[in-house]
Amino acid sequence: MNGIRSLQRASLLALLIAWSRPVTWSQSQEAKQTQEKDAKAKDQTERELDVPYWPTPAKVVDKMLELAEVKKGDVVYDLGCGDGRIVVAAAKKYGVKGFGFDLDPDRVKESLDNVKKNHVEDLVTIKKADIFTLDLRDASVVTLYLYPELNVRLMPQLEKLKPGSRIISHDWDMKGAKPNKVVKLRAKSDMGLEREHKIFLWVVPWEKE
Ligand SMILES: C[S@@+](CC[C@H](N)C(=O)[O-])C[C@H]1O[C@@H](n2cnc3c(N)ncnc32)[C@H](O)[C@@H]1O
Repeated sequence: MNGIRSLQRASLLALLIAWSRPVTWSQSQEAKQTQEKDAKAKDQTERELDVPYWPTPAKVVDKMLELAEVKKGDVVYDLGCGDGRIVVAAAKKYGVKGFGFDLDPDRVKESLDNVKKNHVEDLVTIKKADIFTLDLRDASVVTLYLYPELNVRLMPQLEKLKPGSRIISHDWDMKGAKPNKVVKLRAKSDMGLEREHKIFLWVVPWEKE
């Protein structure tokens, strides 16, 4: 009797083990697939930044807008807008519309707070976007503080700007496009470090180098 019972117990145990194995394997497969899907979705919405956040000092912002000869009716786009300071300054000083685009949700939030703090909600729009996906044709002034190779990567989009539009880049040139002006000025960063800054101006269509 005891022999039969232990035989039954052993078969039940064997059955349980055999049954539980495929469940565990399929569960881990499902978890793996879910992880892969999550990672893919994250990658699509939060791809890595092409350049970190370094704010342009206020003095340089003023000079950039002055060099662009911003006037009523202009539409200023800042590609990678950080805390939105360039479009906010353009709206406050020249009463023009501005659009700031940034991929980093923290920067987008800071920009929106900045817009609100300066009461320019009627003029300035902030959007979370990858600058390499944007149609720039509605802009008449485009400001950049990226890297030189990113300026070059943007050229196919910038080429489509209306004739007479101005492109202003803080610190970096754009290989292949001859600037109309290059200005140098000393300014302190938000951290208090003083150095020489360069500002490049191109008027569309630019002259090839
Ligand atoms: C050097 S900061 C310049 C900020 C601001 N334009 C200024 O001059 O004060 C560059 C900004 O570009 C943003 N950025 C980097 N790659 C980006 C991309 N592919 N699309 C949109 N924004 C991006 C970063 O989050 C950062 O805020």
